[in-house]
Order: sequence, then structure tokens, then C-alpha cells
Amino acid sequence: SFRIAVFASGSGSNFQAIFDHINQQKLDIHIELLVCDRPGAKVIERAEKAGIPVFAFCPKDYPSREGYEQEIVNKLQEKQINLIVLAGYMRLVTDTLVKSYYGKMINIHPSLLPSFTGLDAIGQAFEYGVKVTGVTVHFVDNGMDTGPIIKQEPVNIHETDTIEELEQNIHKVEHRIYPEVIDWIAGGRVKLEGRKVRLTPKK
Ligand code: GAR
Repeated sequence: SFRIAVFASGSGSNFQAIFDHINQQKLDIHIELLVCDRPGAKVIERAEKAGIPVFAFCPKDYPSREGYEQEIVNKLQEKQINLIVLAGYMRLVTDTLVKSYYGKMINIHPSLLPSFTGLDAIGQAFEYGVKVTGVTVHFVDNGMDTGPIIKQEPVNIHETDTIEELEQNIHKVEHRIYPEVIDWIAGGRVKLEGRKVRLTPKK
């Protein structure tokens, strides 16, 4: 089966959506590990309930980012992980991970990149007053939210929308498209050619 590790820092609604989708569709994909940099995060409860092993760590316990990332890489190799799925993992990854997993690590970001990178992208778009924002799934490179784009979907911002309504609309899209993209990759349908990502048709 296709073996994935999910990295998350907070609530884990995307983790849950991925887990539920895999089960409901009976996909041959396994979440082998949850990696979490905040030992109190709700996503850890979700993983435990789902019977998925958790590696939770405090970045402060390590001298550098390379320190905990090397420990993560060791665990990923032990479990022969095919794909790293960043789902609300709120820290930059370094070369330690990127060197071993470029093309095998994806992220979801709540804006239409390259607009509104970094923290609180939904709030940034709302405050800016754009009429259209959205969701991006991309391969992870060394930059912040800069890697090759796999899929984007727009979300309209209506005059009457509150920030809470916009957040809900964004999350609804995330929970639908992230499992879909993972399924594409597991099926070998996603080809990375420089900055361009090609989706080959389903057989
Ligand atoms: C999601 O909206 C995700 O796109 C965002 O964090 C949220 C996590 O929610 N990620 C980023 O902003 C990455 N820069 P969740 O914990 O409920 O899945």
C-alpha cells in the first residue's frame, strides 16, 4: 500500500478529512505516522482515536531545526514513507527534509498562491479585500509556499461574508481537494517537470 505521513500543528481537520476519505473510499493508502510539533494539539487526539502512531516533539528541546528534522527523517525512513503531507504544519522545513523528500512532500495553503503566503493567509486575503481567494496544493521546496503547484481552487468572497464564513468556505474546499490530490499521487498520476506539474488521465 501507499504509505503517507501527515505533519500538523493544530486542530487537524485536514488530517481528519484525509483519514475519513481513505476509509470511506477504501483506498490502498495508509497514514503510517502523525508528526506534530505541539504536544497539546487536538490533532494528536484525533490520531490516537484513529490508532495512528504519533511523533510529538517540542522544537525547543533541540539545538536546531536540523536536530528534530533528522530525527523525523529517521522515523520516515524506518516506516518507508512514500509521501509527506503537510496539513497545517506551521513551521518551515529545512534542507534536511527537502533533500530527501523533494517531489514527495506536499503542502496545502489557504490562498491562491503566490498571493498571501505565510501565516494567516485567510485573514490577509479578507483584510486586503480581494473578491476571490482559494486553496493551493503544492510540492514543498526550500522557500515559504513557493513550490510547484499541483492544484488550485478559487473561493469567492461575498460582500456579506464574515471572516468566519470565509474560513468555513476555505476549509470545505481543503477537505475535498487534499484527499483527492493524495489519491492522484498514490495512483502515480502526478508528474513533476521543473515548475510544471502534469496530471495524467485515470486508467
Ligand atoms: C489549514 O487551513 C491549512 O491550509 C493551513 O492551516 C490550516 C490547518 O487547519 N495551513 C497554513 O496556513 C500553512 N501555511 P487544520 O489543522 O484544521 O487542518
